Amino acid sequence: MNTIISSTNRKDSFTYQTARYYQKQLIARNFETEILSLADLPSNLIETDLYGKRSAEFQPIQDIITRTQKFLFVIPEYNGSFPGVLKTFIDCCKYPESFRDKKAALVGISSGKYGNIRGVDHFTGVCHYIGLEVMALRIHIPHIQHELNETGDLFKEDTIRFTHLQIEKFIKF
Ligand SMILES: Cc1cc2nc3c(=O)[nH]c(=O)nc-3n(C[C@H](O)[C@H](O)[C@H](O)COP(=O)(O)O)c2cc1C
Repeated sequence: MNTIISSTNRKDSFTYQTARYYQKQLIARNFETEILSLADLPSNLIETDLYGKRSAEFQPIQDIITRTQKFLFVIPEYNGSFPGVLKTFIDCCKYPESFRDKKAALVGISSGKYGNIRGVDHFTGVCHYIGLEVMALRIHIPHIQHELNETGDLFKEDTIRFTHLQIEKFIKF
């Protein structure tokens, strides 16, 4: 199973729109991919699913993670790094079997001009710790608010070229 993680719990996020774009492109290449949005996490996760606890609400999410072999994380820049909810989510998942010896591609987005370069680097360190192999080509999309059209698709030539290259490499990875 292949899963895109929309790595924020902010409602109506550009992260989710970008995740949808990647999903559409992967499905168009016959590469079945689901989206797991962190907006669907249990709202009291820090009470119910950390440190060995497991709620009935989180269990189906854990099951998706357990079944997934390849992840694609779309990660917004929050305060110069990746969102805290993404780390909390990783901390809630079973260790080490959730991620160890699996693969991941990373996409950083931001409204500012850096496309979450630093946050994607920070998250790469976390991935390596938990045993997730990170694909070398990581994509950064700055000024995301100007990148998606009314149908939620990327439309700028350069952005399409680099994201499609990453998508094709991800399928083979
Ligand atoms: C808590 C928070 C912190 C943010 N910090 C940054 C930042 O450090 N740099 C930046 O370029 N954008 C920052 N942003 C703006 C996001 O990059 C912007 O909202 C973008 O659309 C991606 O996030 P989204 O998926 O929540 O829409 C921040 C947004 C939030 C909600």
